[in-house]
Amino acid sequence: MKFFIDTANLEQIKEAQGLGVLDGVTTNPSLMAKEGIKGEKNIIEHYKKICEIVDGDVSAEVISTEFEGMIAEGEKLAALHPQIVVKVPVIKEGIKAIKYLTDKGIRTNCTLVFSSGQALLAAKAGATYVSPFIGRLDDNSTDGVELIRQIVEMYNYYEFDTQVLAASIRHTMHIIKCVEAGADVATCPLSAILGLLKHPLTDLGLEKFLADYHKLNG
Ligand code: G3P
Repeated sequence: MKFFIDTANLEQIKEAQGLGVLDGVTTNPSLMAKEGIKGEKNIIEHYKKICEIVDGDVSAEVISTEFEGMIAEGEKLAALHPQIVVKVPVIKEGIKAIKYLTDKGIRTNCTLVFSSGQALLAAKAGATYVSPFIGRLDDNSTDGVELIRQIVEMYNYYEFDTQVLAASIRHTMHIIKCVEAGADVATCPLSAILGLLKHPLTDLGLEKFLADYHKLNG
């Protein structure tokens, strides 16, 4: 199970990298906007900074919605750094672009996936990752984790190489449920990753161990 952090915030990326368990980063135009990163030059520089902080894959999303624009952007993004994975929305032009980029040896992350049919097309086009948005499904009274389970089962049955990257994770329990559903990757906010550490018995146990040590050792 790989852990990505879902943010464009450099401080949070550094903090997660410092834990030593980070496998990559996912961004999207909304996350870049949240950090106030605007203009092509600044966006490109920001991706480069992220690649310098982490060792793993860094998803960078295209803005174009037609094939020619998507592949031009994708090739430009991929040339920035070997860690870049080109993020492409699961629309008709996007599937064509994923196929094209895959044939060129460029890795892709098929995003905005909300159904197993979309995930099937992403895998057939050769996407490196498929990103089902589980939190947004939950927001719409649909079980997001169940979609992860269905896609994992389909990919295993048909032996697709595409990795299931659970996205739109909102909290720690989402991570646990995605592990149980067999996701290859979870991309999470830092708070959800840190939430995995929380247990009152750990805190109480540590307090007692230290108190007992200091009783004898001052
Ligand atoms: O990984 C996709 C993610 O950034 C979307 O999350 O919380 O906006 O649905 P959210």
